[in-house]
Amino acid sequence: MNTSGAYHFIPPSRSMKWLGVISTIGMYIINMVGFLDTQTGSALGCGPDWPLCNGEVIPNLNNIHVIIEFGHRMLVGGFALLATGFMIWALVRYRAFIEVKIFSLLGIGFIVVQSALGALAVVFVNPPTVLALHLGFGLLAMVGVGLLTVFLFQLDAQMHGRPSGIGFRRETSPSTKAWVWSTWIFTYLAIYWGSYVAFRGAGGACPTWPLCNGKVFPGFSGLVGLDFIHRLAAVALAVLTAALLWHLKQYRSTRPDLYRGAFWLFIAVLAQIATGANLALSHVATGPYLLHIATLMLLFADVSYLVLQVVPSKTLEQAASPAGSDVGWTPEQAHNPQA
Ligand code: HEM
Repeated sequence: MNTSGAYHFIPPSRSMKWLGVISTIGMYIINMVGFLDTQTGSALGCGPDWPLCNGEVIPNLNNIHVIIEFGHRMLVGGFALLATGFMIWALVRYRAFIEVKIFSLLGIGFIVVQSALGALAVVFVNPPTVLALHLGFGLLAMVGVGLLTVFLFQLDAQMHGRPSGIGFRRETSPSTKAWVWSTWIFTYLAIYWGSYVAFRGAGGACPTWPLCNGKVFPGFSGLVGLDFIHRLAAVALAVLTAALLWHLKQYRSTRPDLYRGAFWLFIAVLAQIATGANLALSHVATGPYLLHIATLMLLFADVSYLVLQVVPSKTLEQAASPAGSDVGWTPEQAHNPQA
C-alpha cells in the first residue's frame, strides 16, 4: 500500500506471464521424461544412488538408461527451480488472490514431495506404490503451475478491462459444479488405475482392440481383468465427458469458457482412447506409450481448468480491499486500469 492509502496497480508483467508459460512447458517435459524413465526401466540407471549418479556427480553416459535417468534428474533440477521461482514471485505479488495461494502451494508442495518420492523410489529400488504416487503427484505439480499461469493471464485481461476467465467465473449452479468435480475425480482415479495396470505389467494383457483377446467380456480376473477394467474406465470417461458437454450446452453463449473446455475435454478423451488402442496394438512400444502419456497430460490439464472455472472468484474490489492485502489496485482502477 502506498502512503495515500491506495494500492499500487501492478498487472502481471509480460516476463511473469512468459515465465509461467515456460515453467508449464517445463513441467510437461519433466513429466514426459519421468514416464519415459519408468517405461524404459531406466529409473535405476544411476544405480541406487541419489543425489549422485553411479557414485559420480557427472556419470559416464555409456548406456541409454544412464542417459535417460541422468537427463531426467537434470531436467527436473532445472525446470523445478524455474517453476518454483515463478510461483514464489507470483505469490509475493498476488498473494491476495486465493487462486494464487492455492496453485503456488500446490505446485511448490508437489514439486518438493515428488522430488522426495523420486529419491525414495531410487534408494528403495522402485516400490510400485511409491512410483504410482510419484507419477500422480507429478501431474498435480504440473497442473498447479499451469493453472497459476492461466490465472495470471486472466488477471491481466481483467485488469485491462478485457473479457476474461475470471469475469466468467460467476456463481455456477451446484449441479454444474458437481458434474465438473465428479469428472475431475473420475479422471484422476482412471489415471491411477492406468498406472497400476502398467506397474503390474498388465498393459500387454489385451493386445487386440476393440475386443480383448477376441472377447467382449474377458472377465475381471488376473492381468487381463486389470487391463479390461482400464478399457471400461475409458468408456465410462467418454460417456461422462459427453454427458458433461451436453449438460454445459445451456452455457454455450453465457459461459464459453466452460462449454469450450468441455468440448476439448471430450476430444481429448477420444484422443486418449485412440492412443490407448494404438498402444495396445503396438504391444506397448515406447513411441505409442509416450503418445498415450502426451494426450493424458493435456486431458488432465483441461479437466483441471474446468474445475478452476466453476470455483467462484473474488471480485477485483474484494481482492483490493485493505483486508485483502496489497494486491495492487484500487476499486477505481479495477474499472479503469489506467486510473
Ligand atoms: C481415456 C482414458 C484413459 C486414461 C486416463 C488412461 C491412462 C493411462 C495411464 C495413466 C497409464 C499408465 C502410464 C504409466 O504409469 O506408465 C496407461 C497405460 C496404458 N493404457 Fe491407458 N488410459 C486410457 C485409455 C486407454 C485405452 C482405451 C486403452 C486401450 C484400448 C489403453 C491402453 C493402455 C495400455 C496398453 C497401457 C499400459 C502401458 C504399460 O503397460 O506400460 N488406455 N493409461
